[in-house]
Amino acid sequence: MSPRPIGAGAAPGKVILFGEHAVVYGRPAVAAAIDVGLGATAEHDPQGPILRIPSWGRDGLTVELRGADQTRDAMGRAFAVALEVTGHPPDCPISVTLDGDLPLGIGLGSSAAFAVALIRALADVEGEALSTDALLAAAERIEKVFHGTPSGIDHTVVAHGGCLRFRRGARQPFVAVRPVRPLPLVIAWTLREGTTRDAVSRLRARHTAQFQHYDRLFDSIAAVAEAGVDAIEAGDFETLGALFDLNHGYLSAAGVCSPRNEEMVHIARTAGALGAKITGAGCGGAIIALAPDAGPVVAALEKAGYDAFATRIRRA
Ligand code: MEV
Repeated sequence: MSPRPIGAGAAPGKVILFGEHAVVYGRPAVAAAIDVGLGATAEHDPQGPILRIPSWGRDGLTVELRGADQTRDAMGRAFAVALEVTGHPPDCPISVTLDGDLPLGIGLGSSAAFAVALIRALADVEGEALSTDALLAAAERIEKVFHGTPSGIDHTVVAHGGCLRFRRGARQPFVAVRPVRPLPLVIAWTLREGTTRDAVSRLRARHTAQFQHYDRLFDSIAAVAEAGVDAIEAGDFETLGALFDLNHGYLSAAGVCSPRNEEMVHIARTAGALGAKITGAGCGGAIIALAPDAGPVVAALEKAGYDAFATRIRRA
């Protein structure tokens, strides 16, 4: 295929339903794409390479690579990797604009959605259709710029969409999970204390110091994730809610739930959610609540000063 004047790409955000952190240690986890995400357009621009994300940061974010030291910050390095993996020279005359409603850095997969939308747009402007394997390999390289050694669950679910059971290092790392009925979730969030990389490395230090105890904790999270798959596929919301609560308790024990995470989870449960847990790396950031009657849960969280919205996880 030949180059086009404008290339477009999009990617959803994600929630981890079960198994964050334990997934880094080879345990199974369950994640799903959400209907909030990012879109990207790539076009010819003699000033390029330039990356613009008007909705991130207070004044938007602009990365200009021409004549710049690409190693300066993670965003610049990530953009440079995206150009390389899509076959663009480092000084190519291309500008990319990313936009969308996905909030940055709260555990909803913003870096994975950034990677996948950006790669798709850069491939599309060249008139190329990337294979899924090529997209996953390219997105993994960008995720490594941001997170060091990610398990791979975020960019895998963001690239595939739908709901997946994922196991790092398995011969078949992911299989589709099919909700028999849509899962009614409320997502709420607060600012993060540090990055995913910080949260993962703090837990790694604890795991190294108390290997057996943390390994047992990860095994318990794995058992909850497996039971969660069954509950999702059976449409058993009572069990699913209880499993959310259990998974959250294990993550509290692992030290990744901040007081604000605990407060959001408590508010959601008190307002009628069947269960609630952090989602993603924790230490602030987002929670999910299973809430068939979402209105009072969203209202209670907003009354307490949190951003919150209702969504549904459907089979792909
Ligand atoms: C981050 O969304 C999920 C973590 O398990 C990290 C990872 O899987 O790489 C905390």
